[in-house]
Amino acid sequence: MDWGMIDRYSKSLIKEAGHRIRVSFAREIHIDTKDDANDLVTDIDRDIEQFFISRIRRDFPDHRILGEEGFGDKVETNDGVIWILDPIDGTMNFVHQKRNFAISLGVYADGIGMLGYIYDVMADDFYHAVRGGGAYRNDERLPQLEPTPLAEAVIGVNASWVCPNRYVDHEPVIRLVQDCRGTRSYGSAAIELAHVAAGRLDAYLSMRLAPWDIAGGSVIVGEVGAVTTDLRGEEHDMLTKGTFIAARPGLHETILGDYVRLKE
Ligand code: IPD
Ligand code: CA
Ligand code: CA
Ligand code: CA
Repeated sequence: MDWGMIDRYSKSLIKEAGHRIRVSFAREIHIDTKDDANDLVTDIDRDIEQFFISRIRRDFPDHRILGEEGFGDKVETNDGVIWILDPIDGTMNFVHQKRNFAISLGVYADGIGMLGYIYDVMADDFYHAVRGGGAYRNDERLPQLEPTPLAEAVIGVNASWVCPNRYVDHEPVIRLVQDCRGTRSYGSAAIELAHVAAGRLDAYLSMRLAPWDIAGGSVIVGEVGAVTTDLRGEEHDMLTKGTFIAARPGLHETILGDYVRLKE
């Protein structure tokens, strides 16, 4: 497989999709809901997914595509090359803020992340990684992450972590919030992973993410030495939804060992 060629192809496809999203703000955007009243989707999410799928199917007919909006393939095994796409990660931000959303794409071969992309469309920040080749922000290589003590760490968690919830005991998380330097929540898993890769966040945790939320970001953060697992400390499965943490080495063990108590 010529990964260099696929890397150049992916970058140009993502840039073109980003341009389409920016242009879309000139017209009226149609907003629907999915699982609940706060689970938003727009016609732009769907258009952008279809744009990627039509190009990838035309140019790589043997590859499969897993996309959030369901226009891709029904993917149940890791075999072969799979493009894992979130056309707009952070749809709520897209609708309410018209910024702070990203295109997220990972290209996997037999379950191994080979290429990863996060494009923060309005900031025009492009993060990418080729397996074994380091991670980049706008073609500037990102340095390896060094360990940071929790007392000096900024942790990406949203407010649901400190409320009673069905996934984790919230009391230890209140201690985590007190013991770390600060917390941030950006509303886009992909952008939060980009922040981990760039050292702006020291860890990012989620109770429920889908493959398309993390496929691109996992490749990128892995290249700078972040540890990514589910909240049991096991490898995250790229075919199903589940819990997720990405953190600097050392901090990952501290957070899972001392502060995360799973309910199920
Ligand atoms: C969502 C965002 C959000 C995360 C949700 C995701 P979407 O993706 O990444 O930050 O907390 O779990 O579903 O639906 O905007 O693509
Ligand atoms: Ca969504
Ligand atoms: Ca998403
Ligand atoms: Ca999405």
